[in-house]
Amino acid sequence: MRGFDYRRPHMIIKINKKKCLVEAGERTLEVFDFSNLKASSFVIICDKNSNTLFNDYLTPILKKTGIPFFFIELAEGEDNKNIESIISAAREMVRNGVDRKAVIISLGGGVVGDRAGFLASIYMRGIRYIQIPTTLLSQVDSGLGGKTGINIPEGKNLIGTVYQPEAIIIDTFFLKTLSDKEWLNGMAEIIKYAVIGDKKLFDLLEKNINNRSKDFILAVIEKCIKIKLDIVAIDEKENGLRKILNYGHTIGHALETVSEHKIKHGEAVASGMVYEAMISNILGILSSKDTERQNRLIKSFGFNISTDLNLEEILSVIKNDKKVEDGLVYFVLPNKIGSVKKIGSGVVIPVEIEVIRKVLKSMI
Ligand SMILES: NC(=O)c1ccc[n+]([C@@H]2O[C@H](COP(=O)([O-])OP(=O)(O)OC[C@H]3O[C@@H](n4cnc5c(N)ncnc54)[C@H](O)[C@@H]3O)[C@@H](O)[C@H]2O)c1
Repeated sequence: MRGFDYRRPHMIIKINKKKCLVEAGERTLEVFDFSNLKASSFVIICDKNSNTLFNDYLTPILKKTGIPFFFIELAEGEDNKNIESIISAAREMVRNGVDRKAVIISLGGGVVGDRAGFLASIYMRGIRYIQIPTTLLSQVDSGLGGKTGINIPEGKNLIGTVYQPEAIIIDTFFLKTLSDKEWLNGMAEIIKYAVIGDKKLFDLLEKNINNRSKDFILAVIEKCIKIKLDIVAIDEKENGLRKILNYGHTIGHALETVSEHKIKHGEAVASGMVYEAMISNILGILSSKDTERQNRLIKSFGFNISTDLNLEEILSVIKNDKKVEDGLVYFVLPNKIGSVKKIGSGVVIPVEIEVIRKVLKSMI
């Protein structure tokens, strides 16, 4: 894959023969050519916050195209990432005469983006869509790579599709309104990329704990986009290499589920990485020095990694997770900062429940 073309900057990636344009920068929304899509209409999927904050930014840009458009506001938050919101949006689209040539525009964080992508993948057996991620987490992670999904009471993201957007527009202008909590959420995924695949990014983060300057964050976002999309271009359907992106997520997902989403995705992943690094250390894969170094970085960003959740409930969710086979839980484990342990071409390592229990005990 080519890197970013810094005249704009943008890049075109090819995933499973499908081309996707990725724009990244400040005010990139203004340079994106919506007319080029030759859409019959645009349906903007958003939540209350992204609608309130950014309707005034997107509306004049779409008006210039002369193509009809309307907004569908989905209920906000992880608890509403459900099938009911998808059906209700699809019905509204049918009532408004939205046809197969329409393009869905996702305007929001990962909770909006995962639903908008899922809706696009099933509406009239699939229509085109564009990701406009507005949180840091969605700009470096959930808005990239085409995974879509919704939750069911049994667990997160258990229903979904892999469906690539036509374009991903990363505009750092959106980040100006982000709360400290949401900023931190995104940082967790950025630290994850550094630990699994980019030592230089890790060094950079260590020196820039409080740096939120435009140039710094754009440089970091671009690194993350490249790491993620390079992986997705090789393994779109997560048969092998893409699993590497699940570092911190096995324990993280369990924390999200048991806390009924009171612990947010990024916070949960930060804790997940701390405990999964400890597992790696116990198994003799990651040195104590690198385990401490990773955990120090996570803590210095201000993540709270202790919890009062029930240990057995966390273990029970982990056991029910899709990464469990033959009673063993499969983890992505770093072997040093910037790289993960591989067995052959595989990136997951089997871990016994007792080892996980031991590590989790230090969390409670
Ligand atoms: N598809 C994937 O590959 C993938 C990867 C990682 C995470 N995810 C999913 O992403 C979701 C989390 O995404 P998220 O952290 O973006 O959560 P989110 O979408 O809930 O956004 C967090 C909050 O920020 C608000 N918001 C959005 N943009 C804003 C802005 N610019 N300024 C101020 N507030 C803004 C939202 O309304 C919401 O209240 C989870 O459901 C997770 O499962 C998916």
